[in-house]
Amino acid sequence: MNYNQILKKGENFLKRRKIKNPFLDAELILSKVINKKREEVILNINNKLNNSDIIKFKNYLFRRSQNEPIAYILGYKHFWKDKFLTNKSVLIPRPDTELIIEEALKYLPNDKSKKILDIGTGSGCIVVSLIKERPKCTATAIDISLKSINVAKTNAKLHQLENKINFINIDIDKYKSSYYDLIISNPPYINNVELSRLDNDIKFHEPKLALSGGSDGLRNLKKVIFKSKKLLKINGKLILEIGYKQKNQCAKILNENKFYINKISKDLSGIDRCIVSTKL
Ligand SMILES: C[S@@+](CC[C@H](N)C(=O)[O-])C[C@H]1O[C@@H](n2cnc3c(N)ncnc32)[C@H](O)[C@@H]1O
Repeated sequence: MNYNQILKKGENFLKRRKIKNPFLDAELILSKVINKKREEVILNINNKLNNSDIIKFKNYLFRRSQNEPIAYILGYKHFWKDKFLTNKSVLIPRPDTELIIEEALKYLPNDKSKKILDIGTGSGCIVVSLIKERPKCTATAIDISLKSINVAKTNAKLHQLENKINFINIDIDKYKSSYYDLIISNPPYINNVELSRLDNDIKFHEPKLALSGGSDGLRNLKKVIFKSKKLLKINGKLILEIGYKQKNQCAKILNENKFYINKISKDLSGIDRCIVSTKL
């Protein structure tokens, strides 16, 4: 069987199982199997596959047909300017989260050494991207999940930053070290009703611990805000990712905890997604 034939079979198989983007996914899976870029698949469309590659292709395709996200099958996801190792222990980095990077960079001058804390680091995509952009800064990244911390450490190592970021497996409630210039967090903020309505890819495969924000979705946002009040320097910045329709409640909690709201930015779908605030 050549690339063209197996891609067609793969596309049809995924289509029948109602997977979005069946051709793209089949192409990505084939490029993983033959360990070549997608462009090379297209350029060599009449190349033949050996039997062991056909078996690998079928196995990956079956996983995708069961709604396993393509980022877990490929083992990586692009975020900001780099590739990040991704597996089922961590949330898949989302393009919306790049808003945190855009905003944070405005408060991190190139020549200054600022102290940063990433709460709920997951794959480490935010903190690694920030330290790559601002190598003079130092960072700590925490997560309640040990498996996440291990993935984040591997990502830091892949980007030669293992000595620049201190990774700690701890619950935010128990973390005490303070005097940060900047705290960033994309906490789990999905409420229980929305959680039950998510696409199967997310609902059945991404870690609940990374998604669930309790009955109103605000449980972890509140924890991060209360804690940041203690951990930030005066005039330090807190940059948070928030969920759909959480802007007003989140701004209220920030104000009640003596934070000034600097900016609320929208994601590409026009949804309020990122709040920048200052500890007064
Ligand atoms: C939405 S994910 C964000 C992951 C990553 N920062 C990103 O943006 O892709 C939230 C992360 O917070 C972690 N988390 C949940 N509850 C926590 C807690 N109480 N203390 C510390 N981390 C927590 C989860 O394990 C998960 O990795």
